Amino acid sequence: MTATPLATMSDPTAPAPLEPAAQPESFAEWNEIMVARHDPELFHHHPRAVVRFVERRRVRQVVKLLDARPEHRVLEVGCGGGNVIAQVPARERHALDLSHRMARRARERLGTDSRVLLADAEALPYRDGTFDRVICSSVLSHVHLPRQVLKEAYRTLKPGGRLAVSVSYEATIERGIRLAKALGLGRLLLGKPQPKEDVYSSEYHLHRFDPKLLAEMAQDLPPARTVRKVPTFLYPVHLVAVYVKD
Ligand SMILES: C[S@@+](CC[C@H](N)C(=O)[O-])C[C@H]1O[C@@H](n2cnc3c(N)ncnc32)[C@H](O)[C@@H]1O
Repeated sequence: MTATPLATMSDPTAPAPLEPAAQPESFAEWNEIMVARHDPELFHHHPRAVVRFVERRRVRQVVKLLDARPEHRVLEVGCGGGNVIAQVPARERHALDLSHRMARRARERLGTDSRVLLADAEALPYRDGTFDRVICSSVLSHVHLPRQVLKEAYRTLKPGGRLAVSVSYEATIERGIRLAKALGLGRLLLGKPQPKEDVYSSEYHLHRFDPKLLAEMAQDLPPARTVRKVPTFLYPVHLVAVYVKD
């Protein structure tokens, strides 16, 4: 498979394109290379205060809108290192990721009380109506079929269950980075250009989300109960939406 990013912003700090020898054969293999090049956990512990601030607000909104309780069975799809589900109260924590590297990290973080699977969010290995709460945090931009991921996540919810979804708002992120650079603040706010510490790279983003695309991808679900803009309504960098199962 040749991975062709759909996002087009040219970013001089982005890592060099993959060498022909590293061209992945499958989506899972490509994703494995991407998480090695763009560590999903970096945002949670980023050296730059502004990035940590936005990430904390995003995760706080996901946890708040999810409204999980200690008696709930909770699933996170595309869990990365398990940073988000680790902050959620639950009777049972289930998490899955397509990447070996990330599933291993999530297992280490969540411990043996949680069940972490290596699985594809586009075809969830659970029966309908299994979970009280499902999290899909910063995943949809990176998957092949976001609409299918949302449909699957919703399918596994119990009636009355809640699905919390967070996506990056690509256009405002790009505008913010351009403005910071134009004002000479790029380095101050975002750090020395380092491929591993790239604040934003289009290479791993297959879809450019905004409110319209999120609504389009969620067309198999009921309308979002709430959509929050993070960090502020005035300058949204992420959208956090919650859907409630009929
Ligand atoms: C940006 S990270 C988000 C991690 C975590 N949810 C968070 O908010 O910190 C995206 C994750 O989605 C995973 N992923 C991508 N495609 C996937 C798929 N089809 N099924 C399951 N996980 C997938 C990646 O391996 C990666 O760990």
